[in-house]
Amino acid sequence: MYSRLVSSSRTAVIGLVAVIGVTGAAFAGPIEDRQANMKNVGKAMGALAAIAKKEAPFDAGVVKTNATTLADNVKEAKAHFPDGSASGDKETWAKAEIWQNKADFVAKADKSVEAAMQMASVTEEANFGAALGALGATCKACHEDYRRPKQ
Ligand code: HEC
Repeated sequence: MYSRLVSSSRTAVIGLVAVIGVTGAAFAGPIEDRQANMKNVGKAMGALAAIAKKEAPFDAGVVKTNATTLADNVKEAKAHFPDGSASGDKETWAKAEIWQNKADFVAKADKSVEAAMQMASVTEEANFGAALGALGATCKACHEDYRRPKQ
């Protein structure tokens, strides 16, 4: 009886740990947060790229939705590079230079948000390609200086 009690409370503790493990996502660290942010950015960019590659039709509504998601996520990403997060909760591709040139990093993020908002206002297919080129250049500008390439 006693040992059954012990073992069932042990099971309860293991269950509790599992629950904490699951809800742990709510306490994700800054690295996980910003990578999730950038994944959303990448997904939205992928939807726009599909239009450019003619894999999807031009649709001003789809353009606006994805460009707005992209702008919101890059805006939010700025908050996910706090001091001390050059390393931490998981592997990161963020370069240490971010924290040495924070003003430039933030300026590059703002430029990207601006280009995304420009993209959100595109209603004519004729203006889409140029807007996408300008937006893509802002990703590249930041990644070149501040992100190590993933192998
Ligand atoms: C202000 C700088 C900045 C801008 C602008 C920026 N990124 Fe990033 N991005 C980063 C950094 C830094 C990382 C690496 C984060 C890490 O590993 O901790 C990253 C990572 C990523 C990742 C990988 C996420 C993962 O871990 O799976 C994708 C995809 C991505 N960015 C897409 C984009 C696209 C598309 C744009 C433009 C629309 C963009 N980014 C604009 C700085 C930026």
